[in-house]
Amino acid sequence: MNLSSITSTSAFQLPLLPIPQSHASRSCGLVENLAIECQSLSYSVTTKQGKSKPILKDCSLSIPSGQLWMLLGPNGSGKSTLLKILAGLLTPSEGFFRVKKPRGFVFQNPDHQVVMPTVKDDVAFGLSRFNLTYDEITSRVEKALDAVGMYEYLQRPVQTLSGGQKQRVAIAGALAEKCKVLLLDELTTFLDDTDQVGVIKAVKSTLASSEGITALWVTHRLEELEYAEGAVYMEEGQVVMHGDPPTIRGFIEARQAAYIKQIYS
Ligand SMILES: Nc1ncnc2c1ncn2[C@@H]1O[C@H](COP(=O)(O)OP(=O)(O)OP(=O)(O)O)[C@@H](O)[C@H]1O
Ligand SMILES: [Mg+2]
Repeated sequence: MNLSSITSTSAFQLPLLPIPQSHASRSCGLVENLAIECQSLSYSVTTKQGKSKPILKDCSLSIPSGQLWMLLGPNGSGKSTLLKILAGLLTPSEGFFRVKKPRGFVFQNPDHQVVMPTVKDDVAFGLSRFNLTYDEITSRVEKALDAVGMYEYLQRPVQTLSGGQKQRVAIAGALAEKCKVLLLDELTTFLDDTDQVGVIKAVKSTLASSEGITALWVTHRLEELEYAEGAVYMEEGQVVMHGDPPTIRGFIEARQAAYIKQIYS
């Protein structure tokens, strides 16, 4: 079920669970092994009528280094906006955030980010600004492709790849730039089940074999929570919960069940 069907918290009443104490009690700067920290982050846009429209409201979360976390919530709840702020593409209106650098942002549609004719050239593309030798570039490209299970596709034309393979190439691009934080926005939306599992397993094994790389993975698919070490759930621009995946999965399923019950009552 797509969470987009559960957009209104006023449609039914369920108690909101608090953020787990272990996370809520942390304050910025005190926990050194965090890859991502947000404190009271808000973001507003100005409408054509000149009014301020809040998109994110008072969002706080913390994600430890070296872990895969998922970010879930209904359509329009603010997931992509939060990710873009963490990627440095948008500036928050209020609040504080810190993300370990370098950081890489991978978009939902693989065709929007795989730009060069061959896999090798595409992964090497972002390295041109680092003043590296040819050997260094080759080594980084090969290592990054190996990490996502795409080494044997080095010379392949990008256009011959599946959607999931293109996503893995895009992730390899971020790894080649030695990104410490991967911000991954709904990579599996356009993928079939095999590609979906391939991409998430590639991310998981990359984190397992690398020192301190952290990934924040936006998804609508509850079953992907089984790969995560932590999760964040948003509604209407706010972080409702963040913590362990089984608790958050149970919370979302309860929300869905209550919504369905309300429709059929
Ligand atoms: N520049 C903008 N101007 C006006 N509204 C905006 C702007 N950017 C985002 N929004 C609105 O902010 C809300 C959050 O958008 P966002 O894309 O972050 O949601 P999302 O959780 O990623 O949704 P989805 O699951 O559909 O990808 C939406 O209602 C969206 O229409
Ligand atoms: Mg989005």
